[in-house]
Amino acid sequence: MNQNLYLSQEQIQLQMDYIDKLSALTQGFERSHGRPMAAYVETYGCQQNENDSERICGMLHKAGFELIEERKAADLILFNTCAVRENAELKVFGNVGALKHWKNENPERILILCGCMMQQEHIAEQIRQKYKQVDLVFGTHALYRFPELLFRILSERSRVFELGGGDVIAEDLPIVRKAGLQAWVSIMYGCNNFCSYCVVPYVRGRERSRRPEKILEEVRSLAGHGTKEITLLGQNVNSYGSGSDFEENFAQLLTAVCRIDGIERVRFMTSHPKDISDELIEVMAREKKVCKMLHLPVQAGNNRILQAMNRKYTVEEYLAKMEKARREMPHLALSTDIIVGFPGETDEEFEDTLKLLRRVQFDNVYSFLYSKREGTAASKLPDPNSHEVKQKRFERLLEVQNEIALELNQAYEGKIYDVLVEGVSKTNPDCMTGRTDTNKIVNFPGNESMVGRFIPVRITKAHTWSLNGEIWRIEHANE
Ligand code: 5AD
Ligand code: SF4
Repeated sequence: MNQNLYLSQEQIQLQMDYIDKLSALTQGFERSHGRPMAAYVETYGCQQNENDSERICGMLHKAGFELIEERKAADLILFNTCAVRENAELKVFGNVGALKHWKNENPERILILCGCMMQQEHIAEQIRQKYKQVDLVFGTHALYRFPELLFRILSERSRVFELGGGDVIAEDLPIVRKAGLQAWVSIMYGCNNFCSYCVVPYVRGRERSRRPEKILEEVRSLAGHGTKEITLLGQNVNSYGSGSDFEENFAQLLTAVCRIDGIERVRFMTSHPKDISDELIEVMAREKKVCKMLHLPVQAGNNRILQAMNRKYTVEEYLAKMEKARREMPHLALSTDIIVGFPGETDEEFEDTLKLLRRVQFDNVYSFLYSKREGTAASKLPDPNSHEVKQKRFERLLEVQNEIALELNQAYEGKIYDVLVEGVSKTNPDCMTGRTDTNKIVNFPGNESMVGRFIPVRITKAHTWSLNGEIWRIEHANE
């Protein structure tokens, strides 16, 4: 086991010392400007990135920055970027380009880019050459060194590019959580799977797991602050603990999280179909607190494509795992990820994916157009299909899936579910919104005193993406 995996107390302390030094600078700013230094953080991509941004915000807050929601009013802007698809990268370039004027107006302002996209050399080089308004660039491996890097920017006023660093686990960094009721907890980082289309193993490094006692300590502390729902995060949570110096596997960790008082619901993502174990399915079925939903990305419904993707399972093996899970948990909600237009995908191969959707009947499908990622194995494959062909397939898949989702949701009509109320509906101030344990969004007339509570709701109307309902009271039962 690599002892350098866990940062030493001294390394963490060094960063905490930089936070103190930053505080002195931000206090100086506040005295001279009559207001605190304002920071704006924008996050792209997955929940793992959101969770990293919570750490970044934690460090900024501790260093005396005021965290604000409006980009233009900020003294410091940070984009935590995603590299999984080209779209997300183009948005970042667009935003950074548009901030040239903002930076020129006042060179004291600070523009920072970090995250997965920056961990790619060709991108960092492009920023270095063409986007001079950017002050600081750092990759995923240097996240814990943010206080030190920011201090250099503020004290030396020179550009800093920090793209090195190894695969580490940094515990006990400050954190600012966005929502109280629900929280994400990273249990592992990195990925060893090298699916042929995916850039993640290149930008997030090798798989490494946090120690179970650290994870449980974090969940206990969240429960103490009112969190009721935990989502355990990792690129492939089913291989939690492999290659580590402790014994616990994911099924055991999940059980231990369920034992924590105050936590009412536990979710997890993402799982790789090749690693999902019978033991995990048993724990899911047995533990009341584990939500009855499983996100299991299949990516494609054709064996040749799956092999070209280096997914290491066949359609038949995938179906067998899903069927086993459904046998154990008849009301299990299922979701998946699909990539449309993988290089060389034929019409027939695409039809196989539709067949799989019809057969499994997923509640939710997250579909993506294939995006060529530099450095990945698939980027070298011939890709004869036009964008139009891929786009048509994509739209067809949405159509098929929307029908399935609506039908599955209609089966909820007339039944009563416990809904964990999250807040007021964004579209109707008289409605509250929450979720069933199968992750269905439910809107129903109610009031704010219900937030954070489980309310029994009878479903009155199903839509493709959500359900409408009404509060179920005991007196209804006697009507
Ligand atoms: N192009 C399109 N989608 C991708 N994903 C990962 N890499 C790519 C890519 N190059 C999708 C996969 C994965 C999800 C998080 O993003 O479906 O499960
Ligand atoms: Fe990417 Fe595959 Fe790892 Fe998921 S399992 S992060 S798709 S390489």
